[in-house]
Amino acid sequence: MCGIVAYIGPNDALPRLMDGLRRLEYRGYDSTGICLNTPEGLWVRKDIVRVDTLDQTLTDAPRANVGIAHTRWATHGGVTQANAHPHLDGPNRIAIVHNGIIENMAALKAHLIAEGVEFRSETDSEIIAHLIQQAYQGDPEAAFFVAIRQLRGTFGIAACFLDHPDVIIAARNGSPLVIGLGNGETILASDPQAIVSWTRRVVYLNDREVAIMTVDGARVRTLAGRAVDRADELLESDYSVAERGDEPHFMLKEIKEQSETVQRCLTGRIQVDEGNAKLGGLNMGPRELVAIRRVVNLGCGTSYHAGMVGAMAIEALARVPARAEIASEFRYRNPIVLPDALFFAVSQSGETIDTLGAVQEVKVKGGEVMGVVNVVGSTIARTCGQGVYVHSGPEVAVASTKAFTSQVTALLVFTLMLARTSNLSLEQGQRVARALLDAPARIAQYLANPGPIEQAAQAVVGARYVLFLGRGFSFPVALEGALKLKEIAYIPCEAYPAGEMKHGPIAMLEPGSPVVFVAPRDSQREKAISNMKEVQARGARVIAIHSEGDDEIASMAWLSIPVPQTEDWLSPLITVLPLQLLAYRAGVMLKRDIDKPRNLAKAVTVE
Ligand code: F6R
Repeated sequence: MCGIVAYIGPNDALPRLMDGLRRLEYRGYDSTGICLNTPEGLWVRKDIVRVDTLDQTLTDAPRANVGIAHTRWATHGGVTQANAHPHLDGPNRIAIVHNGIIENMAALKAHLIAEGVEFRSETDSEIIAHLIQQAYQGDPEAAFFVAIRQLRGTFGIAACFLDHPDVIIAARNGSPLVIGLGNGETILASDPQAIVSWTRRVVYLNDREVAIMTVDGARVRTLAGRAVDRADELLESDYSVAERGDEPHFMLKEIKEQSETVQRCLTGRIQVDEGNAKLGGLNMGPRELVAIRRVVNLGCGTSYHAGMVGAMAIEALARVPARAEIASEFRYRNPIVLPDALFFAVSQSGETIDTLGAVQEVKVKGGEVMGVVNVVGSTIARTCGQGVYVHSGPEVAVASTKAFTSQVTALLVFTLMLARTSNLSLEQGQRVARALLDAPARIAQYLANPGPIEQAAQAVVGARYVLFLGRGFSFPVALEGALKLKEIAYIPCEAYPAGEMKHGPIAMLEPGSPVVFVAPRDSQREKAISNMKEVQARGARVIAIHSEGDDEIASMAWLSIPVPQTEDWLSPLITVLPLQLLAYRAGVMLKRDIDKPRNLAKAVTVE
């Protein structure tokens, strides 16, 4: 999942390419590269550095009106300069950038090597440049089609040609590409954010399509060669770049925003008097809602954890069977998609390929699938066609924080709608509605007084292993806390349902091991206390996230972090906050790259 930008027009390509790359860096930041098409040759600069660092080395770049650029998240081949994009053909006359994975790489590469082609990198992507070169007989478009038709797998590709500076050719299969149509200039990118500074008139490429871009716009053909007549669209969303303000990191800024972002997700959606809620994007009235017999939330990583909370709330409040599924598993296990089930695709970016694949699988099987998405106009939102935008605003830090609480909120709003058609009376619905509306204030209350996070961070920073435990609604929170600590601080840890701990992971505990226990005052509290005692009996140090005023847990714990008391089903919105802060502080203490942790990317567009 890399970022691609390409430019052709009368202006200096370099600033346009670099500005685009900067906005696409969330897609991967292992290395950065650029190719400018000049009369003297294809000028390439690439390195294992971030976009800003490469930019500083470009003072000697020639002026060019055509170029392609790339920010990489390594799949095939390590993070080396040779593996950075762009890649050239043997004679250095064709350059390509690629996002995706070529699955028949081994066979294609063996064939090219047998033909005498010498490879300069370990990537699957380099194959594309050589395949085009082999087919090239003076017509770049014809050669591009011959090459691309041999590829299996996913790709977003842009290619430029020394002999044809009047054209850039691009193709898409599974990796998004959008073409910006300017005034006498054309820009291609993996995502509209990289384009909006220059134009808002765009054409989206669909899978198995090729675009032949010139200064006058783009001609689109299917991979089979049929001409496609695609009208352009006007980008209307706000693509303004988020500012970090006075905060040292986007992650901290985004953690602190959560009272406001949860409020935004609720605004206009809760009807207190009716004890109900409304999500316009679902296009569902009570008759459609009562027909739902099961709900399945699909997602990956943090979004999967939000889906788990949502599923538990649906079962608890609406008494409709619900579950969360990891999208990458769901899509390949020939899932059963019943006509009375409703599927939600939960995704911050709306570009996660595993979640998109799961959406497509539900659709193929005739199921109903809706998005719970943050990024407006993203691929998952457009593919689902219906759903809920969570409105958390741009999430810049790679580790997801505010998107999680907004996703949970959106699913809780849906839960209220569903529950009101079945299990909840007017009074009960009003109570749920009021509790939801109260959530932003409880979040603000906790964030104003977050407790001894610093001490907790010191305890986990030196640990060889950290165990996160929780029961019921607190189990997905424990999972999310462990995921954050791994991502940001690279500390080995795992999360378990607290009752399951004695079936194995307890063997990991030794005197002094930190155990982060999420134990608010809920229906499982007594059982959680018993598990806490089991942990303490092994000499472990319990860092307890518990409800304010719960003196019993506070006095048992090695470190007590009180949070405001809420309903059971609402507690994840609050109990997750100290865990986000804990990961953040631990990462800072260990001098980690907080907003761009190693090996990760903000949108995972490869399988
Ligand atoms: C964790 C994180 C990832 C994402 C996952 C899904 O902090 O950011 O686990 O949650 O890659 O991404 P989206 O929500 O964009 O589908």
